[in-house]
Amino acid sequence: MAEVTREIIEEAIKGYIEPHLETDLVSAKSVKDVAIDGDKVKVSVVLGFPAKGIFDDVAAAVKAAVEGVDGVGSCDVDVSSKIVAHSVQKSLKPIDNVKNIIAVASGKGGVGKSTTAVNLALALSAEGARVGILDADIYGPSQPRMLGISGKPESKDGNTLEPMMSYHLQAMSIGFLIDEETPMIWRGPMVTQALEQLLNDTNWDELDYLVIDLPPGTGDAALTLTQQAPLSGAVIVTTANDLSLIDARKGLTMFEKVGVPVLGIVENMSYFTPPDLPDRRYHIFGQGGGERTARELGVDFLCEIPIDPRVVEGGDKGSPIVLEAPDSDVAAAFHGLAGKVARKLAVLAEATPQIADANITWVSS
Ligand SMILES: Nc1ncnc2c1ncn2[C@@H]1O[C@H](COP(=O)(O)OP(=O)(O)OP(=O)(O)O)[C@@H](O)[C@H]1O
Ligand SMILES: [Mg+2]
Repeated sequence: MAEVTREIIEEAIKGYIEPHLETDLVSAKSVKDVAIDGDKVKVSVVLGFPAKGIFDDVAAAVKAAVEGVDGVGSCDVDVSSKIVAHSVQKSLKPIDNVKNIIAVASGKGGVGKSTTAVNLALALSAEGARVGILDADIYGPSQPRMLGISGKPESKDGNTLEPMMSYHLQAMSIGFLIDEETPMIWRGPMVTQALEQLLNDTNWDELDYLVIDLPPGTGDAALTLTQQAPLSGAVIVTTANDLSLIDARKGLTMFEKVGVPVLGIVENMSYFTPPDLPDRRYHIFGQGGGERTARELGVDFLCEIPIDPRVVEGGDKGSPIVLEAPDSDVAAAFHGLAGKVARKLAVLAEATPQIADANITWVSS
């Protein structure tokens, strides 16, 4: 009988392409240990992204692949995740305690950026990651309402702020610090400074992912963040009509200029399925626009998110749809999105190790 070696085992595991990773586990550097004892094999797989939901599938696929090897009697597989930190823009230093920062952006307002940010954060958290959300929309903060948080953050030392907690998310928003009734008049430098403080002076507690709900458009506040927050990647939200797509293009250019990888485009409010006609899809804003733009711009199309009135209700009462209607198609779309985003970041992180060559952090202009 042929001798069983690590190489042979890895070759067998390579035959399994993890569907979301779009590559095999050996190439993704996820196979950590292979212990061979006679005809018994033990494989330990460590995924670079949170994936509680697929641990069993991965274990079963690896087990089947290894047990198919000549000379192997049985195989035990242990699957876990360890989220890796990704590199950020060259001149910036990552923030302590935050492994990956994901910006959720849009070229224009009202396309569902805040909705996407909060549900993406909750879906990542559901897979077992430690997640925070930073509401960087200085002019119209919506995360306090969406997460049902009221009250003010504590400061233990007079300089830093403790994040507010909601549904296991660590959250920070200008909305916690200002009076909702008093409109704020922000000028450029004040915006920069406020954003800098919210990001850097919050005591984030060991985050795998910090999702930033960016202000709409490509104005000062959004630009400040893309230039000065150490981002791992960006997600651009659009709707299917042409105008939104032109705006999505602007958003994309903004990230490309500063070297932040655009993870892809999300098309929100893609179609409506009436509850009494579950097989119908009405494409109210047109069909296929997000996918077409993604193709034209050479970035990935991440997902379509259907229209569901429960998104609005959940947002208004502080219970985002991923929690409010976990069985809905919208919730499923957000879970799918979280899986893709996390896997893309894991692959990027393996490809480009953390750059920490400069001692520069946020600089106020
Ligand atoms: N898939 C959806 N189905 C139904 N309603 C939605 C959906 N996505 C977002 N909405 C609703 O559309 C409105 C705008 O969404 P949201 O506040 O997330 O957008 P935004 O891009 O953050 O807006 P702004 O530019 O004002 O910050 C909200 O009332 C939200 O509940
Ligand atoms: Mg918003």
